[in-house]
Amino acid sequence: MNISIIGSGYVGLVTGSCLAELGNQVLCVDSDIHKIRRLKKGEIPIFEPGLGELIASNVKKRRLHFSSSIKEAVRKAEIIFIAVGTPSLENGEADLTSIEDVARNIALNMTGYCLIVEKSTVPVETGEWVKRTICAYIKRKIKFDVASNPEFLREGQAINDFMHPDRIVIGVESKKAKDILMNLYKPLNAPILVTNIKSAELIKHASNAFLANKISFINALSQICDKVGADVLQVASGMGLDKRIGRSFLDAGLGYGGSCFPKDLDAFLNISNKIGYDFQLLKAVKKINEEQKEFIFKKIKDVLWLIKDKTIGVLGLSFKPDTDDIRNAPSIDIIKSLQREGARVRVYDPVSMEKAKLLLTNVKFCLNPYETALGADCLLVVTEWNEFKELDFVKIKKMLKRPIIIDGRNIYEPKNLEELGFQYTGIGRHGHKV
Ligand code: UGA
Repeated sequence: MNISIIGSGYVGLVTGSCLAELGNQVLCVDSDIHKIRRLKKGEIPIFEPGLGELIASNVKKRRLHFSSSIKEAVRKAEIIFIAVGTPSLENGEADLTSIEDVARNIALNMTGYCLIVEKSTVPVETGEWVKRTICAYIKRKIKFDVASNPEFLREGQAINDFMHPDRIVIGVESKKAKDILMNLYKPLNAPILVTNIKSAELIKHASNAFLANKISFINALSQICDKVGADVLQVASGMGLDKRIGRSFLDAGLGYGGSCFPKDLDAFLNISNKIGYDFQLLKAVKKINEEQKEFIFKKIKDVLWLIKDKTIGVLGLSFKPDTDDIRNAPSIDIIKSLQREGARVRVYDPVSMEKAKLLLTNVKFCLNPYETALGADCLLVVTEWNEFKELDFVKIKKMLKRPIIIDGRNIYEPKNLEELGFQYTGIGRHGHKV
């Protein structure tokens, strides 16, 4: 099939290269000429394991192309995926300016039937607006369909998630649109759920909100565990063995960050409010997530007493491992709070330091975890990179001024570190190796 992807950001590039890998002719478009130039030269603007190789191989096979012309994209395509950004406005509402703009441009350039598919995460009823916008600007009587096909990709595992999805959701209003999308995804051999457009839009927001709900639930429990001396990992295991609950997304830590959960929750709250439903549960999920950062801050104070003039070594900046993304990363807020109280901060992250340098000042960016620990009053784990799980703790202990580890992601076994002479503090951890 001839497919155009409008928006060559994270979602657009992964979707485009994977659809090319399935044998389709794909044109990835972006209004950022500089980005398109880089892509044409083989440079990948984002960090995602395997994406560079996938793009290179499909460019070589002449199935994947790049352009900054939306006109070319619309004229060539049987299917157009809209994968532009939907950032948050100040009030939390999703900014749909780019979606409207693309819809208008599709209408102005369409020459024959095409299927327009929402891939970006959008509030329920956006499909309606896309349809209305196209009808308002279209020049001739040309048939078209709008569909919703939300993405469920996780950063760091996006290609695997695309190629082996738990489910594919297709929101359609015509048999033709349904057949086109069923055919497109047939090679993936995955369960396909066909719904109407509004349900598909809601499935995306509801899924992210529910996952965030699980995280806040376990984070709330971690605070209770701390108060009573229970172990949150054991509680999560016990809950997770119940198939109705499941163990995934029950890792207590510093709360969720990234470019999806915080933004999508705000947008979901906003649209719920707009249509007359006060989604109190989601408000609590958001509040608990914010409180988790204060919780760790209090833990640091509990062990160091005063923060002023103390040196804190921070391991990890990205909002989770295997990505260089620091958008809404808890690390940034935590480091800024430490600096406000007068701490000196040393930090190391395997891939996010260049990005963080644009946001953080007066921070010592280090070459490795050991340099980060040098002369520090405590070492704080913020992101659970594998590299941090396999440290030489004898060496770390020698580097630290005081042997204190605050583990914001529960990656270490308390007893193991205590046996090595560390003072260990996790999140809701009071485990006993039996
Ligand atoms: C999330 C969803 O998992 C994807 O399905 C969805 O497609 C994507 O958002 C999106 O809407 O585009 P992502 O933001 O890449 O994917 O990251 P996740 O792996 O879901 O993690 C989100 C945050 O939750 C991270 O900060 C992570 O550290 C935190 N988390 C996750 C926890 O604190 N505990 C857990 O048990 C799991």
